[in-house]
Parts: sequence; structure tokens; C-alpha cells
Amino acid sequence: MSLMRTKPVAVDANTGLKRCLTAFDLTLLGIGCIIGTGIFVLSGVAAAQHAGPAIVLSFILSGTACGFAALCYAELASAVGGCGSAYGYAYAGIGEFVAWIIGWLLILEYAVATATVSIGWSGYLSSILDAFFGVHLPAQYISAPAEGGIANVPAMLIVLALAGLLSWGVKESARFNGVMVFVKLATILAFIFIAGQHVNVDNWHPFIPERVIDADGHGHYGVMGVTTAAALIFFAYIGFDAVSTAGEECVRPQRDLPIGILASLGICTVLYIVVSGILTGVVPYQQIDIKAPVAEAMSGLGVSWAKGAVATGAIFGITTVMLVLYYGLTRVVLAMSRDGLLPASMAAVNPRTQTPVRLILCSGVLIALVAGFFPIGKVAELVNLGTLGAFFLVCASVMIMRRTRPDLVRPFRVPFSPVLPILGMLFCAWLMISLPLMTWIAFSVWFSVGMLVYFGYSHRHSTLATASA
Ligand code: ALA
Repeated sequence: MSLMRTKPVAVDANTGLKRCLTAFDLTLLGIGCIIGTGIFVLSGVAAAQHAGPAIVLSFILSGTACGFAALCYAELASAVGGCGSAYGYAYAGIGEFVAWIIGWLLILEYAVATATVSIGWSGYLSSILDAFFGVHLPAQYISAPAEGGIANVPAMLIVLALAGLLSWGVKESARFNGVMVFVKLATILAFIFIAGQHVNVDNWHPFIPERVIDADGHGHYGVMGVTTAAALIFFAYIGFDAVSTAGEECVRPQRDLPIGILASLGICTVLYIVVSGILTGVVPYQQIDIKAPVAEAMSGLGVSWAKGAVATGAIFGITTVMLVLYYGLTRVVLAMSRDGLLPASMAAVNPRTQTPVRLILCSGVLIALVAGFFPIGKVAELVNLGTLGAFFLVCASVMIMRRTRPDLVRPFRVPFSPVLPILGMLFCAWLMISLPLMTWIAFSVWFSVGMLVYFGYSHRHSTLATASA
């Protein structure tokens, strides 16, 4: 029974964090976290190797799965609140064990995604310095030991710089995020406007290229390619859920969280569909660059200044992704340590900055070490699997909590429940099984470590356990 213990709901609880974020801030926070490596980098591989012009369908497919999950997030965020996001919702409505699993998956999502994105950031930075300023960063300082380098120093430094910003204050971080988001949106709109005029509809035929199997036995294109690409570019949508971790810092959480989650996801989905359509319309899909597809598409049009502008916008864009993912990580760990499932000493909030400084700095050092010393090629897929697992459980939580906690006030309700939550679960499961076996093996390792930590430490140290003892 102790695995099923639940904690009380406290939507408006005062936890020492500063309540200063509005629906507008939350929407920008969401966009800040969503648009990044997924569209600026991964869309290249997805279109060139997996889906061709049908990458548009992949974005629609992934976006639909996220849409169902976002509706479920919105209902739970408005009814339960708290900074622990889905972890906290499950803890209040289902029980500690399921909450732990979700929390553990969210830690994987936010921490590893921050490290992954910082490595992408470092790659973009070095190519911009090289192309526009003639500055060559020494190869051994921009790659991990397994890639023949010493450490990826720029990736480590950007993580530590963001640690400083997040410790300074959440409003300051949100302001910085807001400025960066406008630069990023301007970049995307510039691409749509300039490249949109050069679309050659012939490039969209065949829309779903015929399936081919290469010499290594790897399949490309066809309908299966569309789902493989959807599972990969799911990474592009990760982040709208991070909005929900700001529950304790919103002025009006019950109203503003659903707005922030749904608005940011909606805006980004439309932009992704348009950008990916234009990308495959201006460059034949086999020729799409797989490292910097959007920037290279611009230079292919002969608009060379635009390539620099897009690359710079991408750097800004990727920075805000890291900022918000990292923010989300600290808030989820904060919630878990306050509940005693992780060491409580991490939950201290600095009274001057009103931020959890110790937690931010400790996790920053760990993420920086991962970013600096691990080659993170396929890790985006691991992040996707963990996140899809969390989304699956979030959709299930809506249905379970409608039964276990019918008493909760739900300012936002998922329409047509249980149909939409069930569709959400099916879409997430479909994308999960489209991911490679290797990713599942890595995921099982993470999951097993989570079980060891839970049964070795968290179960006994849980605040609920100590209170009942
Ligand atoms: N959605 C984020 C990105 O694409 C994680 O970089």
C-alpha cells in the first residue's frame, strides 16, 4: 500500500519561490524551450534519410501525440499545480511509485536533453566562428574523449553560464528568455518569408519516396520512414511540458498554465509544419544538409547573408532551449527532494534570489560533465523514449484521477475524455515502438537504476513515510 500513498493537493501553496510569471511569460517560456535543435538540426536527418517531403506528415504525427499530451498536462496542471509537473500530479492522484517513475523519466528528459542540446550549441558556435570570423576552435576542445578530443569545453561553459543565470533569479531568466525567443521567432519567420518565395513544387514529388533498404540493411523512406522520422523529430516538440514546472512561480497558475502549454505547442506546431514544408520545397530531399539544414538551405538560395543570420538565430534559439530544460530539471528535482524522495538538503531556496541555488549549481556541474565528456550522438532518441513514456503516463493519469479524485476543481478539462487521453496513449506507444532497440536497452538501464534508488533510498526517506512513522 505504501507504493500507492498520495500527498495533498496545494495549487496555490506558498513555497518561497517568487510568483511572478504571467500567461505571456509562460507561452514565451514554452516557445523558448520547444524550438531548437529539433527543427534547426534534426529535421535534416529526418527529411534526407527517413521521410523525404513527407517529413511534414511526421511533424503532424508527432505534433498530434504532443497535442493530446498537452491537453492532459493542461488539465492536471490547472487542477493540481505545483512545480513537480507530471511527477507532482501523479503523486497527488495516483501514488508515490507511479510518481517516482514519472519523476525519474522527467529527470532523464530534462538533464540529458540539456546536455544534448549544449553539444549541438557548441557545434553551431564553432562553425559560426569558423565561417564568419576565421576563428578555429582546437578540435580536441570541442569533442568528447571518445571522439578523440579532451572535452567539449564550449558545451560545458554554456551550461555553467546558464547555471549562473538561473541562480540569479527566475524573472531575470524569463526576461532573457523573452528577448532570445523574439530573435528565434524572427529567424524562423525570415526563413519562411525568404525561402517560401523559392519553393519548387516539383521537389515535393514523390511526396512519400519509395522505401529502399541500403547495403547495411537499414530501411529509408516509405510509410515506415515517416513514423521513424516522427519518433526522431518528436525531440523538436519536447519542452512544452517544461512550462508546467513553473506552477509555483505563476501569478495565476490555474488559468495561465493551460494557456502557456497549449499556446506554445500550437504556435510551434504550425511553424514546424510550414518550415519543414518549405525546406523540402527549396532543396531536393536527398540534398538536404544534415548538420545545419535550415541555414544551408538559405545559402543554397544564394542569400548568403541569410545563412549567417539563420545560424546566429539558431544559436540564440538553442540557448533558450537549454535554459528552459535546465530550469525544468531543477524544479522537478526540487519537488522530489521536498517530498524526501531525493536528499532534502537539495530543496533549500536561497532567500535573497528566491531560487534553489544549491540545486541549480550541483545539477549544472553534473550536466556540464555529461556535456563535456560524453559523445551524445543517439541520445536524443533516448530522451524521446523517456519523454514519450512520461507523456503516456500523464494521459493515463487524467483518466485515473477522474476516478480517484473526482472532487478536484478542474478549471481546464480535456474534452471528450477518455477518448482523447486514450488516443494520446496510443500515439505515444506507437512512437515509442518506432524507436531503435539500442535506445530501449539504454532506457532499461536508466529505469533499473531508478528502481534501485527508489527501493534503496526514496521509499524509506519519503516525507509521507517518515510522517506516518
Ligand atoms: N524541443 C527542443 C529542441 O528541439 C528540445 O531543441
